[in-house]
Amino acid sequence: MMIVKTDEQVEQMRQSALLVSKTLSEIAKILKPGITTLYIDDLIGQIIRDHQAIPSFLNYKGYPFNSCISVNDVVVHGFPGKNELREKDIVSIDAGVILNGWHGDHAYTFVLSDADDEVKRLMRVTKDSLYKGIEKAIAGNYTGDIAWAIQEHTERKNGYGVVRELVGHGLGKNLHEDPQVPNYGKRGSGKKLKEGLVLAIEPMINMGKRQVYTEDDGWTVRTEDGKPSVHFEHDVCVRKSKADILSNYQPIEAAEKSNPNLFWNY
Ligand code: MF3
Ligand code: CO
Repeated sequence: MMIVKTDEQVEQMRQSALLVSKTLSEIAKILKPGITTLYIDDLIGQIIRDHQAIPSFLNYKGYPFNSCISVNDVVVHGFPGKNELREKDIVSIDAGVILNGWHGDHAYTFVLSDADDEVKRLMRVTKDSLYKGIEKAIAGNYTGDIAWAIQEHTERKNGYGVVRELVGHGLGKNLHEDPQVPNYGKRGSGKKLKEGLVLAIEPMINMGKRQVYTEDDGWTVRTEDGKPSVHFEHDVCVRKSKADILSNYQPIEAAEKSNPNLFWNY
């Protein structure tokens, strides 16, 4: 069942999404080699709670941390830990909040300086594919139109692997609502989009082959070939002629640019 949101509800969801953006931007300011991903996760929990919100990932289906921090060949759902970040690490940070009962859930991938050229290209192509998907999130289109746009840009135009096992999703009072939003598929397939539907669109793109596996911890998803993977996620509201992006990369990108430990010019 797809749950369409009222304008008032969408404004509340914007606040939830923006709190995630704010959280990710605070993390972007302090990212550097030598800090542990567990330290980052603790900070994420603090920032979210300081804003009268709840970290929504914690205890979701038993997930044991505030955030997912996925480094290099970890695609998504990486456990924060005592391992220290190193130069050139590719760090996807995915965080979720519940604020006034509404979920925000979005993600950004950072690269510690100095990124390799092929990593820069993967970052650029994946981020661009997210916006190409968002362009299709308009009323009357299908989830398959979003999926096709992302797959076209990443897999067919650039030769990357599109992860099939994990998908984007509707968002609202629940973290995962209908419809599923895959990153691969045929135009005109899937569910028809209605105005007021809020979606988390989240391409997970592998530099090499698309195949992934889940570790014995039941969560950590890695590329089978050990090559890196990049993940970007926005929360968007479906509208008649142009999707409304509820989350905001601007503060994150500003922090990324001003942090000398991060590579941003990709
Ligand atoms: N963005 C991820 C998703 O939509 C976050 C969920 S991670 C979990 O699946 F820990 F909450 F499961
Ligand atoms: Co999500």
